[in-house]
Formats: sequence, structure tokens, C-alpha cells
Amino acid sequence: MGVVRQLRQIDADAAGVDVAFRADVHAGLGQPQKAIPARWFYDATGSALFEDITALPEYYPTRSESDLLTRHAADIAAAIGKGRAVVELGSGSSTKTPLLLDAIAPAAYVPVDISGDFLRDSALTLAARFTRLPIYPVEADFTQRVTLPDEIADLPKLGFFPGSTIGNMVARTAVDLLRNWRCALGDGSLLLIGIDRIKDVATLELAYDDPAGVTAAFNLNLLERINRELGGDIPVDNFTHRAIWDDVHARIEMHLVAACAMNFTVDGQAYQMAAGETIHSENSHKYGPRDANLLLRASGWTPLATWDDVDPAFALILAEATAFRSAP
Ligand code: AVI
Repeated sequence: MGVVRQLRQIDADAAGVDVAFRADVHAGLGQPQKAIPARWFYDATGSALFEDITALPEYYPTRSESDLLTRHAADIAAAIGKGRAVVELGSGSSTKTPLLLDAIAPAAYVPVDISGDFLRDSALTLAARFTRLPIYPVEADFTQRVTLPDEIADLPKLGFFPGSTIGNMVARTAVDLLRNWRCALGDGSLLLIGIDRIKDVATLELAYDDPAGVTAAFNLNLLERINRELGGDIPVDNFTHRAIWDDVHARIEMHLVAACAMNFTVDGQAYQMAAGETIHSENSHKYGPRDANLLLRASGWTPLATWDDVDPAFALILAEATAFRSAP
């Protein structure tokens, strides 16, 4: 069957630039604490750098999650059952997907990703391996409303949201996203979600500030992307990468730190930064077991099973879109 066709649900301008990217960059650079949403990391260069991050010895989440999917494949398959349409949010290179698809024999696979070229390549790679599986890639920002292909309308669904990407959202946005996807996938659907746990600060900070500098390059690519796509003249060499644990919010924060005072323009719009000022580029929230279950319940998903790794701690949680019951 293979890749059926790729749906594109991105609002791009005449130059091919995502209009939401342009808007977010200007809005973010205009704030007292400059901040740009982390989803703009993932152009083709950023997606490739993220793949490099997942192979770093210090970046444990990908390994832990793959390990859980492999070790518990039989239990996961028994809990999910066969014949579902798997909708993967932020599929990227879909490296963990074969582990799941092998286990659960799905009826269709719908990878949703914002990086179109990356999505196309990984869908083709997967199609070569799962020759009878219909694959319907959707190029879209999964944090916004996504229209699912008509072909899976009548199939029971499994949302697959691996990698602890939910951690990149603040709680309010995370709940909005999980609720929207509950609505899109429908009552009775399942969600298999990867959640990174709170752990010692040294392990966390090293995972986001590796000695080889791959995460720094990933962070700095955001500025290069702005220069490439929005005609910016940001002096990227004047910035450094910072990753710190914020215990109040239970998250790693990544920042781009101005090493000196500077002026630059984006789209002809002038911006200034003082030495030491930062652009906040990512949050990566970590969750304890009760926090994670509460997040899911608050979003209309009832946790059914949890597969936990202990060192470094990471969890895969299976949840169900159950009917709302307000009692007692
Ligand atoms: C995609 N996301 C779950 C990664 C994370 O761990 O928050 C992104 C990342 N940022 C730096 N390293 C990895």
C-alpha cells in the first residue's frame, strides 16, 4: 500500500514561509523577556540536529523510551489491540514507530509533522518496511487544529505521542493540546504518551547541554533559521546556549544568551539586546507519576497502564478517552 499522499495544512506566504513563524518571531522578540516557541526549531536543519541529539550518550529520553517499547511490546500490544489507525504527533524521523507498529499490527498510520521534507522521507522509509500498511502523512503543526484523512474516519484510533514532547508545553497549553486531540481522535480512542520524569539536576542539565555542543547548535539554529527565512541579520556568533533546571516549574529552560550588546533586524524591523539578555527558546517540563496522571485526567484521558524506566526515569503511559463523569 505504502505512502498514499501527503496532506499539507500549513499556511505559507508567497515566499513559502509559515505565516505563524513570522508572527511568533516578531511577537516574541517584542516582549520584555524575549521568547520564541520551541516548535520553530524544526526546519530541515533543526530536525536533523534533533536526530543527532537523540543519539547522544547524555540525552537519555529516546533510549529509555525505545527500551520501554521493546521490553514491554507484548503487554503494550495486548492493552492496545490490533486494527487501530495510529496517529503520531510530531513524528519526526519516526524512529520509534516501527517498534510500536511491529507490536500492534495497525490498520493505518498517520504521521503528523511540521517539517514537510523530513516527514516525506521518513514516511517513505517506513513504507519500504511496512509494505501493506496505508500511510497518510499530514504536514501540519500538531499544536493547532489538524484535519485527519477521511480514510481513517471509521477506524478505532491510537494517538502516539512519544519523546516527552508534551513537556515542551506549559501546563495550560498541554491540557489544551491533549483535549483537542481527544476530540479529534474521538471517544474510546487510546493515547500512548511518553513522559520524562523529574530526576537529579546534573543528569537533566547534561542532557540539554552536551559537551559535544549538538544541543547548542540545535538552539542556535533557531537564529540561523530566522536569518534564512525572515531576512534577518542576527549576529549568531554573539549568542551562546544555556540550559538550566527551574525547580519551581519542574522544567529545563533553554535560552539563547546575548554575549554582548547588539542591534539587528528581522524583516527590516529593528531589535536591540543588552549583554546577558536572553531569548527563551524552550521549556522541557518533567513530571512525577501523580503529576502526569493529573495532566491526563484534566485533559479527558484516563490512564490505564504505565510502563516505567527507573534509571534514568522515563514513562510510557496508555490512556483512554473515556466518557465524562462528574460524580460525586
Ligand atoms: C522534542 N523534545 C521532547 C525535546 C526535549 O527533550 O524537550 C527537544 C530537545 N531540546 C533539547 N534537547 C532536546
